[in-house]
Amino acid sequence: MTRIIAIANQKGGVGKTTTCVNLAASLAATQRRVLVVDVDPQGNATMGCGIDKTTVEYSACDVMLGDASAADTIVSPPEGGFAVLPGNEDLTLAEVKLLQEIGREMKLRKALGPVAGLYDFILIDCPPSINMLTVNALTAADGVLIPMQCEYYALEGLSALLNTIEQVHSSVNPDLQVYGILRTMFDPRINLSNEVSQQLLEHFDEKVFRTVIPRNIRLAEAPSFGRPVLLHDRSSRGAISYLALAGEILRREDAHVAQAV
Ligand SMILES: Nc1ncnc2c1ncn2[C@@H]1O[C@H](COP(=O)(O)OP(=O)(O)O)[C@@H](O)[C@H]1O
Ligand SMILES: [Mg+2]
Repeated sequence: MTRIIAIANQKGGVGKTTTCVNLAASLAATQRRVLVVDVDPQGNATMGCGIDKTTVEYSACDVMLGDASAADTIVSPPEGGFAVLPGNEDLTLAEVKLLQEIGREMKLRKALGPVAGLYDFILIDCPPSINMLTVNALTAADGVLIPMQCEYYALEGLSALLNTIEQVHSSVNPDLQVYGILRTMFDPRINLSNEVSQQLLEHFDEKVFRTVIPRNIRLAEAPSFGRPVLLHDRSSRGAISYLALAGEILRREDAHVAQAV
């Protein structure tokens, strides 16, 4: 079964792209078949995987507008062992054009349909806003992974995102659930971080991943080499924490399958 996870938070700089690329590499390292889909016009996930967003033949824009198939658009990064459906600034155009189309929120879901079965995990990196691109990602997904920095305003933005998830759930995608909340760039020396973390656990309980991603310089450096941290410094705390997240997710999926049988 394919698990499709949208990585979303309308706040920028919370670790969406870092989580997308590094979770993909970590799942691929455990022999899972993984596809990264980049629907952020910034194309950071694409570049972070070592693909030049300016020279790709097709992008997620073409796919969403029906000008190219997903199969023709997906590329293999030089390293990492997973596939990428690249995104770039053309997506800004897609967002505007989609507004005039019928079934506009279903475009990505429909486009991924023919290829979804080829992968165990599809991770969709969302832009830092709740727009038609994000809604397309939420409509295509069955779970939302929400990276959060444990700081004062973090919880404020969360309710808007949860509302959107609920709206998509009750209209076009009844399968959609919050897959998990991930604490990112965590620094245990900061009291406020510990407090917010505690609040998250109280409110969201088992929806909060037990794995915590620490602030780690190797995670910040890796994109400039166009590779996941696992290939940049596999013994770094950043690499180890994303491997742990992959492990937590795989255990959860196994429990899910066991429950279904
Ligand atoms: N755990 C981390 N430790 C250190 N730097 C990080 C970490 N996670 C992300 N970063 C850096 O913080 C910035 C924002 O992260 P990014 O993943 O691009 O966020 P988003 O996609 O939500 O905008 C980037 O420069 C990234 O390299
Ligand atoms: Mg990003």
